[in-house]
Amino acid sequence: TESLVYDQLNRPLRDLRISVTDRCNFRCRYCMPEETFGPDYEFLPKTSLLQFEEITRLARMFVQMGVEKIRLTGGEPLLRKDLPVLVEMLSNIDGLNDIALTTNASLLKKFAIPLKQAGLTRVNVSLDAIHDETFGKMNGRGTKIKPVLEGIQAASDAGLNVKINMVVQKGINDHEVVPMAEYFRHSGHIVRFIEYMDVGNSNGWKFDHVMNKKDIIDTISEVYPLEPIEAAYFGEVASRYQFSDGAGEIGVISSVSDSFCSSCTRARLSADGALYTCLFASRGTSLRNPLRNGATDEDLQRMLTDLWNGRHDRYSDERTEEGVAKREKIEMSFIGG
Ligand code: GTP
Ligand code: 5AD
Ligand code: SF4
Ligand code: SF4
Repeated sequence: TESLVYDQLNRPLRDLRISVTDRCNFRCRYCMPEETFGPDYEFLPKTSLLQFEEITRLARMFVQMGVEKIRLTGGEPLLRKDLPVLVEMLSNIDGLNDIALTTNASLLKKFAIPLKQAGLTRVNVSLDAIHDETFGKMNGRGTKIKPVLEGIQAASDAGLNVKINMVVQKGINDHEVVPMAEYFRHSGHIVRFIEYMDVGNSNGWKFDHVMNKKDIIDTISEVYPLEPIEAAYFGEVASRYQFSDGAGEIGVISSVSDSFCSSCTRARLSADGALYTCLFASRGTSLRNPLRNGATDEDLQRMLTDLWNGRHDRYSDERTEEGVAKREKIEMSFIGG
């Protein structure tokens, strides 16, 4: 489909990321630190969450506006009851042929086949280390690698395309970069090494904590030489590299050292139905209120068009250490990355 809407920086609307829950069974320090997200933390009540019918109605309108790819996120999306039912509903939308999921994979073994049968095409699995000790510390729950690897295997066996996401933090898991590259070489699964970002307000982010793209590539290349390859599609967030010996490819997502806002075609829908035009936005615009107050398709279409037309976000292009401290941002667990 031709894109029908462009924003202030002439970027079309192509992708919709939908968060289906703000809950997660992990407590990764960079995303949901236990101090903030402890036993007393108030997650969204069920009535605040968009229902599957509401999500599907909005998704259909987004597709009519040019969206080609939908990604389900969380929190941890597999904690949302009956997720395959939503996938099935989305897969019936004409013109939508890419439905993806970003998950920590701890529950993926159980859901891989139903998700594939419902029409899911791809899974991106977050995995920040390949050794239990580092992984257990990072996920905040002591969860071991095994269930995650079983989830990856189950997804792959079910015929889903699987990529692995590793957020790299200096002094925390940078020693896992080469072992991760090594583990997934020859597996057919692409590992994307992600520069640690200043998402949310509670991870105490500093530039010093970021292992940048150049250092990641240099570190891996010393052991396994790499060469850059072309992007798979316009606006792909990862830069691609292949192992010179033919063992497969990796990606690097460099939102800090080499930002990609100029080709950012992504809108984000939070679990409670607000639209965010940037991962680093301070606030969103509720679509749930008009939805529940009887808005017609035409009303909603006009709202969405106005929102996208007015968009001028380019946070990662403008990031400075001082700016990071000052600005209030949406929590990552609320918007799903
Ligand atoms: P593919 O469709 O497989 O290319 O997925 P993706 O990389 O777009 O999505 P995924 O959920 O796997 O996210 C990978 C990393 O990229 C995460 O750290 C996200 O937070 C980050 N990311 C995705 N989209 C954006 C974006 O628009 N801006 C920034 N700054 N980071 C993003
Ligand atoms: N910086 C970069 N990526 C992050 N993610 C979560 N928090 C951050 C951060 N601070 C990643 C998750 C998941 C994806 C949706 O975003 O690991 O793979
Ligand atoms: Fe959960 Fe993913 Fe956040 Fe970790 S990064 S706490 S797995 S939502
Ligand atoms: Fe898009 Fe905002 Fe990320 Fe830039 S910082 S790529 S505008 S979501």
